[in-house]
This record gives sequence, C-alpha cells and structure tokens, in this order.
Amino acid sequence: GKDKELIRNSWESLGKNKVPHGIVMFTRLFELDPELLSLFHYNIKDGSMQDCLSSPEFLDHVTKVMLVIDAAVSNLDDLNTLEEYLINLGRKHEAAGVKVQSFAVVGESLLYMLQCSLGPAYTATLRQAWLNMYSIVVAAMSSGWTK
Ligand code: HEM
Repeated sequence: GKDKELIRNSWESLGKNKVPHGIVMFTRLFELDPELLSLFHYNIKDGSMQDCLSSPEFLDHVTKVMLVIDAAVSNLDDLNTLEEYLINLGRKHEAAGVKVQSFAVVGESLLYMLQCSLGPAYTATLRQAWLNMYSIVVAAMSSGWTK
C-alpha cells in the first residue's frame, strides 16, 4: 500500500549511503543514551564517542544495522521471511549485553536520522510507516531474548 511506497521511496537514496546515515543515527543514539557506548567492546575503555564512531569495527556494525534495515525494506511484503534471522539476531544482542528497552531509543535515533535526511519529506504519515516497520523488526528481535 501507500505506507510501503513511502518507506521504499524514502529509503532509495538513504540506502545508497548507508555509513554516513548510520553514523547520524548512532551519534544520536549515544547522545540520548551514552551508556550504550560501553557495549561496543572494541571501543577503547572509556573511549569517547568520537573514538568509537571512527573505529573500523564500529563502522562495520553501522553497516550491519543498515543492511538489516535494507533487508526489512526489501521484504516489506513479507517480513515473516526475516523472522528466524531476527530472533537469532536478538539472541546475539542479549549475549552482547543489550537490553530490549534500548531498542526504543534506537527507534528514536532512526527517526531522527530520517528527519535529518528527508527534510520536508519527513511527514507524520511517513514517520508512522517507518515506526510500524521498525516495531515488527524489534518485536522479532525481542523474542530472541531468553530472559
Ligand atoms: C552485532 C551492539 C543495535 C544489527 C552486534 C554486536 C554488538 C552489537 C556488540 C557484536 C559485535 C559486532 O558485530 O559489532 C549493538 C547495540 C545496539 C545494536 C549496543 C543498540 C542498542 C542493532 C540493531 C541492528 C543490529 C538495531 C539491526 C536492526 C547487528 C548485526 C550484528 C550485530 C547484523 C552482527 C550479528 C552477527 O554477527 O551475526 N551488535 N547493536 N544491531 N548487530 Fe548490533
């Protein structure tokens, strides 16, 4: 429907520049919740946000996150096909020390990145369409948590 079109069209250019957009998203995430920095172990102990954002491993993670979003956008018609993958991905994040509640602030950061890049094209309808897709992804990932 219309929501899927909004998501696909808005992702078309963003998805071609995954790393810069992912950096905007994670910069926002660490502003909103600086404690999340410490979950990236390759981040030097007590490293600054800048140290983390410029480490190659961290940039790999940024790319991984953007590729999952890309996969969700590509499979909008049948997000169920990603379910097993996302449950397993959730399991890995539990092991990495991530809390399910942190996905709310990840979602806020995703919306912030969309707002920054889309400008006037970032409408209430578009925001809601993205939130709906993101909720499905998070619900699947969250069901991977064992505790
Ligand atoms: C792996 C942290 C959010 C996708 C990892 C790893 C850590 C981590 C520590 C393992 C090391 C690495 O691969 O860099 C976090 C934190 C997050 C977060 C702290 C936010 C609170 C997300 C989100 C997605 C995602 C929202 C995608 C929707 C991935 C992928 C991997 C990964 C695809 C690789 C898993 C594998 O090895 O198979 N994450 N992550 N992450 N993360 Fe995240």
